[in-house]
Amino acid sequence: MSEIKLFSSIKIRGVTIPNRVVLSPLCMYSANHGVASDWQFAHLSTFARGKTGLIFAEATAVEARGRITPGCLGIWTDEQADALKPITSFIERMGCVPGFQLAHAGRKAGTKTPWNGGLPLDEDDAKAGNPAWEIIGPSDIPVAEGWVIPKAMDKKDIGEVISAFANAARRAVKAGFKVIEIHSAHGYLLHSFLSPLANKRNDEYGGDIYGRMKFLLQVVDAVRDVIPENMPLFCRISAVDGLENGWEIDDSVILSKKLEEHGVDVVDCSAGGISGAPLFRVNNKGKPLKTNMDRGPGFQVPYAEKVKSEAGIKTMAVGVIVDPHQAEQILQENKADLIAVGRELMYNPFWALHAAQALKADPEFSMWPEQYKWGVNRRGKLADFKGLRDEVLDKEAVASHLSDIYNQK
Ligand SMILES: Cc1cc2nc3c(=O)[nH]c(=O)nc-3n(C[C@H](O)[C@H](O)[C@H](O)COP(=O)(O)O)c2cc1C
Repeated sequence: MSEIKLFSSIKIRGVTIPNRVVLSPLCMYSANHGVASDWQFAHLSTFARGKTGLIFAEATAVEARGRITPGCLGIWTDEQADALKPITSFIERMGCVPGFQLAHAGRKAGTKTPWNGGLPLDEDDAKAGNPAWEIIGPSDIPVAEGWVIPKAMDKKDIGEVISAFANAARRAVKAGFKVIEIHSAHGYLLHSFLSPLANKRNDEYGGDIYGRMKFLLQVVDAVRDVIPENMPLFCRISAVDGLENGWEIDDSVILSKKLEEHGVDVVDCSAGGISGAPLFRVNNKGKPLKTNMDRGPGFQVPYAEKVKSEAGIKTMAVGVIVDPHQAEQILQENKADLIAVGRELMYNPFWALHAAQALKADPEFSMWPEQYKWGVNRRGKLADFKGLRDEVLDKEAVASHLSDIYNQK
């Protein structure tokens, strides 16, 4: 067993995650009518070959109105759930854990893909067969100037969405996912109910923090009810809105205590997104989003640390965690229990395997898939020798070393 925390396993309820590296959910906008395509298989299976401990599929819409774009993954039909089975089974075959993020985009639904600007669907999209649809939110306040005004949800809408989350969770379990995450971050539907900037309701789902938390807690209850008792439930939050008069870190501590009481095991601490498009986009005027957040390495780790220490619940840290030593330090300092990595894993899908080398947690390449292990092990020895060769420049020794490596039986 490795002494290195990043490569130690963690058991949550009945599920053992083999290491602490997590693929953060990453929208791919590449589904067909909500059904996973070969892209999703190729994308997620790569992280499994790279031995990422817990692999979250992208934000998946629990109902059609909850898609960010027409190409978003959905799970409101059996066909959509069935298409995910080869993915979960491959991830498990690699010894990793498949995770699933249940999502509803709320007032940020119905947009173009980020690489087409990320703005609301328009007439050109309608002509191309992708008409806009009615979007819903806590109040009739748009995400930003020029965005579609959402319908303020009535009690019937709220009931329908709660049922959609429960049905989606049931299907996700059938599709083979072993961890479920509820997406309540980045300005999407559940987060928009939490934030006083988006929720101006004066019924039981608005007002003070307890009213604003009610919808999310009802969704948590509905999901917890239909998933197995031994299945971990995560909730992703925006720990702060990063805007004046918005949701603050102390609100997140209050919420996290409630989430724990309602059966959530891990709070995944992200931030921002309540106003304008998601974190990584620009606003509708092409300007960077207005928040007071500095986005340097590990910028959201303090949120995971505070929620963990003050709410007494496990946390997942995310946001510009790129270096294995940085990740290990976060765990050693007990600031979080899991490390989610997004863009760095897209850049290098074998990040976990390489991090294990960098931290000297896997000297014999035992973590690698057996199809790669025997060859990569020899490459490792060769790489060590190359370092030496630069100093000694002994061509004969190099040749003999290479032949030893490649002729090994
Ligand atoms: C292409 C892309 C797609 C994303 N899709 C999702 C998503 O589906 N659900 C979600 O909660 N966050 C999503 N995010 C946010 C990431 O999960 C992650 O929180 C963010 O990128 C910060 O982590 P990083 O610095 O390691 O990339 C997305 C980010 C990117 C870059």
